[in-house]
Amino acid sequence: MKIACLGGGPAGVYLAISMKLRDPNHEITVYERNRPQDTFGWGVVFSDQTMDNLRLNDPVSAQSIIDELIHWDYIDVHLRGRVERSGGHGFIGIGRRRMLEILYERARQLGVEMAFQYEFEVESIPTDFGDADLIVAADGLNSKIRNSDLEGFATDIDLRPNKFVWLGTHQRFDDAFAFFFEKTKHGWIWAHAYQFDRNTSTFIVECQPRVYAKWGFEHMSHEQGAETCRKIFEQHLGGHRLLTNSRHIRGSAWINFPRVLCHNWIKDNLVLIGDAAHTAHYSIGSGTKLGLEDAICLADNMNSGKPVQEALQAYQDERELEALKLQSAARNSMSWFENVTRYIDAFDMQQFTYSLLTRSQRVSHENLRLRDKAWLEGIEKILAAKAHGKPVAQPVPPMFTPFTLRGMTLKNRVVVSPMSMYSAVEGVPSDWHLVHYGSLATGGAGLVYTEMTDISPAGRITPGCAGIWNDEQEAAWQRIVDFVHSHTTAKFCLQLGHSGPKGSTKVGWEGMDEPLDADNWEILGPSAVPYSAANQIPRAMTWADMDTVLGDYASAAKRAGRAGFDMLELHCAHGYLLSAFITPLLNRRSDEYGGPLENRLRFPLEVFRAVRGIWPNHKPMAVRISASDWLGDAGITPDDAVLIGKAFVAAGADIIDVSAGQTSPAAEPIYGRMFQTPFADQIRNEAGIPTMAVGNIYEIDHVNSIIAAGRADLCCLARPHLMDRYWTLRAAAEQAYHGDGVACPVQYLMGFEQLERNLQRAAQMAINA
Ligand SMILES: Cc1cc2nc3c(=O)[nH]c(=O)nc-3n(C[C@H](O)[C@H](O)[C@H](O)COP(=O)(O)OP(=O)(O)OC[C@H]3O[C@@H](n4cnc5c(N)ncnc54)[C@H](O)[C@@H]3O)c2cc1C
Ligand SMILES: Cc1cc2nc3c(=O)[nH]c(=O)nc-3n(C[C@H](O)[C@H](O)[C@H](O)COP(=O)(O)O)c2cc1C
Repeated sequence: MKIACLGGGPAGVYLAISMKLRDPNHEITVYERNRPQDTFGWGVVFSDQTMDNLRLNDPVSAQSIIDELIHWDYIDVHLRGRVERSGGHGFIGIGRRRMLEILYERARQLGVEMAFQYEFEVESIPTDFGDADLIVAADGLNSKIRNSDLEGFATDIDLRPNKFVWLGTHQRFDDAFAFFFEKTKHGWIWAHAYQFDRNTSTFIVECQPRVYAKWGFEHMSHEQGAETCRKIFEQHLGGHRLLTNSRHIRGSAWINFPRVLCHNWIKDNLVLIGDAAHTAHYSIGSGTKLGLEDAICLADNMNSGKPVQEALQAYQDERELEALKLQSAARNSMSWFENVTRYIDAFDMQQFTYSLLTRSQRVSHENLRLRDKAWLEGIEKILAAKAHGKPVAQPVPPMFTPFTLRGMTLKNRVVVSPMSMYSAVEGVPSDWHLVHYGSLATGGAGLVYTEMTDISPAGRITPGCAGIWNDEQEAAWQRIVDFVHSHTTAKFCLQLGHSGPKGSTKVGWEGMDEPLDADNWEILGPSAVPYSAANQIPRAMTWADMDTVLGDYASAAKRAGRAGFDMLELHCAHGYLLSAFITPLLNRRSDEYGGPLENRLRFPLEVFRAVRGIWPNHKPMAVRISASDWLGDAGITPDDAVLIGKAFVAAGADIIDVSAGQTSPAAEPIYGRMFQTPFADQIRNEAGIPTMAVGNIYEIDHVNSIIAAGRADLCCLARPHLMDRYWTLRAAAEQAYHGDGVACPVQYLMGFEQLERNLQRAAQMAINA
């Protein structure tokens, strides 16, 4: 097979090597515009697993790389003159130039033709390479081939806001990957630095666009830019200069990272590989790995005996999935650096470091324990001391630290999220509710929520929804509250709501959000806009309706106080009445209750103030919001959610319960583990407001990581509690935790002890296996 590799970076040359290894008869030429020694960039980082893959593919080049790898184990975070060091991270690195020399040499040995200083033009590809059976587009990040047909390659390019420059230095960072954060007169600038040969290190400098503009980097030559950075990071450079080798970049050497993913990598006999097809943010250091592994996969498929088109498609299918996975972790990491100013002033050194280390959500609390137990236990003690207001003798799992809101102290950070049971009769909670909430409260969570409990018959979602508008309901709730208070240490929160445009629908298991087959009641909304085409059109509320609803909220709050609840939450999420006022999707009013966000918030805030005025001052109040309508700028965005959170806190809310969506059937949520937690993080750390995270949080590790990284103050788990009321007790047993953060009912102690023993035995057996 005759193969033209257009671009002689790691992906292109490694493809040539991998093809030759599988069939020496292939005729392969690599065309590279630069001279062999001209390459840009400094070091590259690999994992042990990548090295194993390379070794299996070509033991010869792998060994040459391994012989020159630099190893380091620590990550050092330098901030405000202090260094926080954690270990066990296990990196390996090599200079990009040296790695390419090894690969070029190996390619030549195998009979690959290397054509340096050959710059191809896209227009001439058909004539210059018309006789090739396979054309490999390996021309990197700014691939001319891909860019000449963005549509054909179904290219998705997202240019990120931060600016960065890839520099080098002869300063050695012997045994650690170092992050340096410097507060300059124009704002924060930071560097990611690691050594890759005996006397050279990579030094990537990054900042937000505002800081870049104020420093005027755009107008500096590459050398002036490097010199300005040297002055900024002088104290870390031991008298060394910062070096630039980005002559290939015209204009400023600083660039914005483009996140690239093509959904079609194939055009006839031409195929994309490496950065031409996809990128992964440098902060997770996987771009070269992806390119090399693409090469292995392409070579495998091209030599598998499949017809060419089938082989190319199989290659794309496998590698696109891999690229997507990495991009998802890289997105979290990239976004952490884009928003670093949220954390840098708010967090102390240790929590800041923890947040940095767990930024991609691939490294969790327990991963950190495996890497550096002593460091992690130090963090656990610091966080616990802060929560208790005094030093602690032993490390405490972050989920088992206390949390106080006004006069209410929760023993831990686990919350049973509100969940409608659709099992009330005429709004009256029944024996089902007593057993349900009673057992949830004995399960160990610090805070247990009721389901959405409605302020009026018309405010119900379904005929089975619970309410608190009459004496019978109040008494039934009081019975449950009394059980929770007399038999458990959990605190109990009532979620107060009105269904608005989503009312008069079937119980959940008969058809979520579907109107009743008969006996529908009139529903209310901010405007005559239905939730979906299938739902009733609500009656647009008059001011008189608003007065009535406000009065119903106030009287329900009075009843909740008398029933003895510890906390109250106003449900302003999921498209129900107050949420419908907030989202522009359902609020089209032209009076002062519609229009800009400030107006759309007016009625929910009036309700909140009315309820807060009635609710005892020493008891806290939360507000649940939908922090995104999952419809981009057409609906509520996370930036709006920060303003919404601030508005409720200014009105007296103590904590924002950050959910998302359910405001439109057209929403396009991006699901995944802890998928709504970034919204809780943004509100908490941009506005300085306590938050609860919710949504696909189901592992012990999730809760510990979210709390320790300061992404939220409390974690709500809904579905996990439906299947396991004792989720928190189990979590305590699994972590062999016995402190004040959990209270196993004495009646159940023997079960707790047995579970703990069994779990420890199983863990020990797994270690010995
Ligand atoms: C700041 C920064 C730091 C990074 N750090 C790391 C890291 O630590 N670890 C890691 O694994 N990855 C890292 N990367 C990513 C890594 O550099 C790329 O992912 C990797 O180089 C991709 O390999 P490639 O062969 O696809 O593309 P490239 O390495 O970009 O190779 C493309 C080649 O094509 C050539 N070319 C382009 N156009 C033409 C033309 N018209 N004619 C002839 N030749 C042409 C170019 O000269 C170049 O040599 C980093 C990237 C950046 C920007
Ligand atoms: C059966 C069920 C009923 C729910 N009812 C409510 C509710 O009454 N009020 C509310 O705010 N959220 C309600 N939710 C949403 C949950 O509180 C939670 O936000 C959502 O399920 C995501 O959390 P999870 O991934 O832990 O399940 C309900 C969820 C479920 C599964």
